[in-house]
Amino acid sequence: MKLQSQLTVAFTALLLVIMAVAWYVIYSLILDLLIQDEQRQLKKTGELLVNVLNEQYGTTDVQQFNEILQDQNLQMFMYDRKHDQVLLSTMSNQVAKGFFKNNDFSDTKKTQWQYGNERFVTSRIIFLPEESGLELILLTPLSDLRIVQQSFFTRIFFIFIIGALAAVLISYYLTRKLVTPLSKLKRQLKKIEKRQFDIEHIKATGEIKEVADSVYEMANELQRYMNTQQTFFQNASHELKTPLMTIQGYAEGIKDGIFTEKEAEKGLEVMVSEVNRLKVIINEMILLAKLDSEPSVYEPVKIDVSALINQVVDRAIPFVNEKGITLRHEVQTNITLFADEEKLLRALLNIVFNGIRHAESQIEINVLKKGRRIIITIADDGEGISKEVASNIFHRFVKGKNGETGLGLAIARAIIEQSNGKITVGRSKLGGAEFEINLPE
Ligand SMILES: Nc1ncnc2c1ncn2[C@@H]1O[C@H](COP(=O)(O)OP(=O)(O)OP(=O)(O)O)[C@@H](O)[C@H]1O
Ligand SMILES: [Mg+2]
Repeated sequence: MKLQSQLTVAFTALLLVIMAVAWYVIYSLILDLLIQDEQRQLKKTGELLVNVLNEQYGTTDVQQFNEILQDQNLQMFMYDRKHDQVLLSTMSNQVAKGFFKNNDFSDTKKTQWQYGNERFVTSRIIFLPEESGLELILLTPLSDLRIVQQSFFTRIFFIFIIGALAAVLISYYLTRKLVTPLSKLKRQLKKIEKRQFDIEHIKATGEIKEVADSVYEMANELQRYMNTQQTFFQNASHELKTPLMTIQGYAEGIKDGIFTEKEAEKGLEVMVSEVNRLKVIINEMILLAKLDSEPSVYEPVKIDVSALINQVVDRAIPFVNEKGITLRHEVQTNITLFADEEKLLRALLNIVFNGIRHAESQIEINVLKKGRRIIITIADDGEGISKEVASNIFHRFVKGKNGETGLGLAIARAIIEQSNGKITVGRSKLGGAEFEINLPE
């Protein structure tokens, strides 16, 4: 069953149960209320009659009283308690006798009498002074009250039907409002399942809105991931294919004896260097895969940053000198951080070697502490990062002019992120690129 139908049924059932209980309570109470009310009315009428009688005719002028009563449309007895006898009644003699036979007139506790198949509600009013022993007993047939009860029942029943209809409509409206965004969201999820990412935003509130927002974020993330994955495979296969084709070309040439001995010699040299290059690429890819998936390859230790930068400079100096440029470095003393030393060194070297390759005449390394963060900047005065690659320079196999394999920065980022740091790139004051690494203390 659909969620909307389930909710509508549940809501309606709940409302119906509440209304049925209310209706039952009212219906069962109403007859008691009517009886009580009738007794009150009878008592009032009786008291009025007794008063009139006392004032105008002395206590017991039965004959005159009888005449007045015949004019009223009342069912009543005048009863003499002392002698246990009916003095007069507005009913026919036969009926009055029947009543007297069927019911104990002297029992004042009993409020309902039986005659034939009918029950009667009674009300007794004593004449004053009490010693006279005279009582007025007024009666109303219960069937009269049942007619009122019946008409009440019909009315309540109609109200009940209208209420039930309203309940169904209201619950249908409410559940529709609740469920519509969910079914829209379901359609969007189906689209994502088919990898269509042109999803539309859904109007919703509360938790459903939160779920919808998470779905959009998830879809965007998935799309981004699929795109990077796709470019990664394209770039990787291109990067691996080039050396393989070179090797294949030389190998076939040598096998078919097309090359002279000297050319063959040269070909073998090229093949060896290309195989080495492939080995480097594959090792770096394996390293990257490990950095991403195996946190255990990291062995964080306490590092003295100044010593770490010295190691970087020591390794970079030969290449700096070879290129005839200058390398300056400035490190605040006594800065330590917690990271895998060997891997962080590798990340820094990747960035510094890029800098050496691209620099015009100088490179600068600076380390300073800002609050609880350590900021390492590596700047050069080269041509800077070209616009085309700037946005995804840290992705695998992304490289620009003068690039090699395009894995260096991807490796650097993976290492820095695993050390809970961040790396960004911008333009340096020297004119070229500036990489900023932000690490926790
Ligand atoms: N300091 C820099 N100045 C200008 N461009 C740079 C600089 N550093 C990196 N780049 C650009 O970023 C690209 C990606 O750098 P990355 O280090 O990831 O790869 P690579 O140097 O080409 O190859 P390798 O994997 O051997 O490091 C480079 O190809 C280059 O175009
Ligand atoms: Mg590099």
